[in-house]
Amino acid sequence: MTTIQRVTGMQDVLPEDRRYWDWIIATATDLSTRYGFQRIDLPIIEYTDLFSRGMGTASDVFVQKEMYTIEEPDGSSITLRPEFTAGVMRAYLQDGMASWPSPQKLFLIGPIFRRERPQAGRYRQHSQFNAEILGEMDPAADLEVMLLAMNLYRGLGYSNLTFQLNSTGCPVCKPGYIAELKSYLATHLDRLEDIDKERLAKNPLRVLDSKEQGMDELLAGAPHIVDYLCDDCQAHFDDLRAMLDALGQSYTVNFRLVRGIDYYTKTVFEVWAEGIGAQAALCGGGRYDGLSEAIGGPPTPGVGFGSGIERIVLGLQEMGIEPPEDEQATILIAHFGGATKETAVQLTYRLREANIAARLAFARGKRSMKSQMREANRNGAKFVLVIGESEVADDTVTVRPLEGGEQVTIPSAEIVEWLQG
Ligand code: HAM
Repeated sequence: MTTIQRVTGMQDVLPEDRRYWDWIIATATDLSTRYGFQRIDLPIIEYTDLFSRGMGTASDVFVQKEMYTIEEPDGSSITLRPEFTAGVMRAYLQDGMASWPSPQKLFLIGPIFRRERPQAGRYRQHSQFNAEILGEMDPAADLEVMLLAMNLYRGLGYSNLTFQLNSTGCPVCKPGYIAELKSYLATHLDRLEDIDKERLAKNPLRVLDSKEQGMDELLAGAPHIVDYLCDDCQAHFDDLRAMLDALGQSYTVNFRLVRGIDYYTKTVFEVWAEGIGAQAALCGGGRYDGLSEAIGGPPTPGVGFGSGIERIVLGLQEMGIEPPEDEQATILIAHFGGATKETAVQLTYRLREANIAARLAFARGKRSMKSQMREANRNGAKFVLVIGESEVADDTVTVRPLEGGEQVTIPSAEIVEWLQG
């Protein structure tokens, strides 16, 4: 019989990696709270329509058939969330947040599902940290989510970070730009690979994102959206750039930055970390002022970003950055079975009651002291507390320090105070 394996594209987060996750989540939570964001949790499953209407059917997850969709016996169609943003807007509308003091600043942490081709930094279940501001048009809100992302990575020890920034216009100016882009590409059809011809037909903006050979040269001559913005989008973009400049925060205006989801309007951005392998984009986001109406709500602006936690971990590991050590060193309680084990068990729980991190050496019968010392060393223990027959008889504990120092035997009643001292 073969041993059952994990599902393709899924990941186990082992304790060694989980240390990074806990650190990242704690740092993101702390920073978001300081920026005035509140955490919200949403269901993992939503109606499929939320994503087809919210993200749009020209989005990558639709075009590439990446959604995990289930047809229910009652005829409804539900989907494992392929992103957070449409769900946040759904909750904002459904839970009446529009009537709460405006704007709502929310953050989310949790798993996301996309049936992508698995590769390094790209999985079928990944986890995102998102920050979203709903109900606010001010470009200072765009700035706030951008800097929250940037300062999260800086706080974790990343350097060599750049903002990639673009404006993707709005329903007033975007169609005119797309027409210009299409006519430019149509005059160079012979230079497009089949995949880009397909993109041109389905979602012409995605051609800008093409990694095919020769496209850098071809696209260098393509029209730039920032030259086609309407007055409103131009003013928004200028304001945002002026605030970034005033803060001395550098960025690259990248006219080829088009995101793979349809709802974006005005600002789009990513944070790239140079030199961390294939998946350089740590996060992506932007403004989605038309999303609410697409899912049946009143006009409601929004801006935010999503950041894959796996990718942050990979980058930190590649750079050799370690999470801070746990403060409490483990203490191992060693024994020789029988009555010594009974006393050792009682001592372990007494220490734990006193908030001392204690680890009991397990053994069905008698276990050698050498093996128990090895266990203590493997787990970075500072002390081994030995309970032997004489300790049971005298009601004492023998303390063996592992980081140097003399072995001492002290009355059992004083051990908590001794360890805390
Ligand atoms: P996205 O660019 O599709 O945007 O995903 C955001 C981030 O999630 C990416 O930058 C990457 O770090 C991570 N990510 C995406 N797919 C995978 C994957 N298959 N494996 C590992 N990591 C992945 C969104 O999802 C938008 N909802 C972001 C947003 C929020 N825009 C506005 N608000």
